[in-house]
Amino acid sequence: MEFALLNGDIIQRSEAKVDVEDRGYQFGDGVYEVIRIYNGKMFTVEQHLERFFKSAESIAISFPYTKPQLKEMLEELLVKNNLATGTIYMQVTRGIAPRNHVFPTGKVTPTLLAYTIKAERPLENMKSGVKTILTEDIRWLRCDIKSLNLLPNLLAKQKASEQGCFEAIQHRGQDVTEGSLSNVFIVKNGEVITHESNHLILKGITKDVILKLCSKNHIPVQERTFTLTELNEAEEVFLSSSISEVMPIIEIDGKKVNAGIPGPLTLKLQNLFEKEIEKQCGVLVGKII
Ligand code: PDD
Repeated sequence: MEFALLNGDIIQRSEAKVDVEDRGYQFGDGVYEVIRIYNGKMFTVEQHLERFFKSAESIAISFPYTKPQLKEMLEELLVKNNLATGTIYMQVTRGIAPRNHVFPTGKVTPTLLAYTIKAERPLENMKSGVKTILTEDIRWLRCDIKSLNLLPNLLAKQKASEQGCFEAIQHRGQDVTEGSLSNVFIVKNGEVITHESNHLILKGITKDVILKLCSKNHIPVQERTFTLTELNEAEEVFLSSSISEVMPIIEIDGKKVNAGIPGPLTLKLQNLFEKEIEKQCGVLVGKII
């Protein structure tokens, strides 16, 4: 039997239902997080909780729980669902109220939902690398908030999928921002370059782990906006996310990157990232290298 966490109670997942007037359902008025689970343990959990609370705060949703309380509930959910490898999905919405664009007045309790998903590490793709397309970034100007409103991201990812590709790399005019659900990195003259964490991208937790690993291992990094031309001329390109870790990109709009194979610095970062997972969550069974 599978369980879900709904408003502080762990209940059967099939019983976890939302009201038709929940503002998440009607307006996408809420925020979410995806946490990776390895060996039954949450990877970078503190950072995810921090970002979850920050996203909620930036749209004026206040949690009825503290971070340690939420962490404890998530740990309990993991044990109940006996999850070894996968993800926890969680979201909080402004709550249930008669439909009105204005925030409800009075005491409306936010709806908090979390459940687990079994998912192996995408080892095959991580070994071979993935194909991508380019698409104009048509999202709003607060991409730093992990909002439930994902229509532009869905449209981008769908377009990629229809072209047999794994991800869509978004750009605002000449400037590359990020993937539809990932951050994007290039390697130029042996240096790793990725968009600075501002309102135009999500401050990826995987991205931050990678940047720390670079700095610890004397790999030069620049956090700055890079252009489509730089992407086109890059020695290596990869993306990062909680689900995909360090994922080599071997093709963009039909043009091969690094002759169509994952590059050496990408492989090095994959290896360092695996070691970081093992440090936090214990020995991994299947590995990339
Ligand atoms: N998405 N950028 C966007 C737009 C994202 O949606 C995500 C994650 C990332 C990477 O963030 P992180 O490294 O913290 O996972 C960057 C999740 C996985 C999702 O929507 O499923």
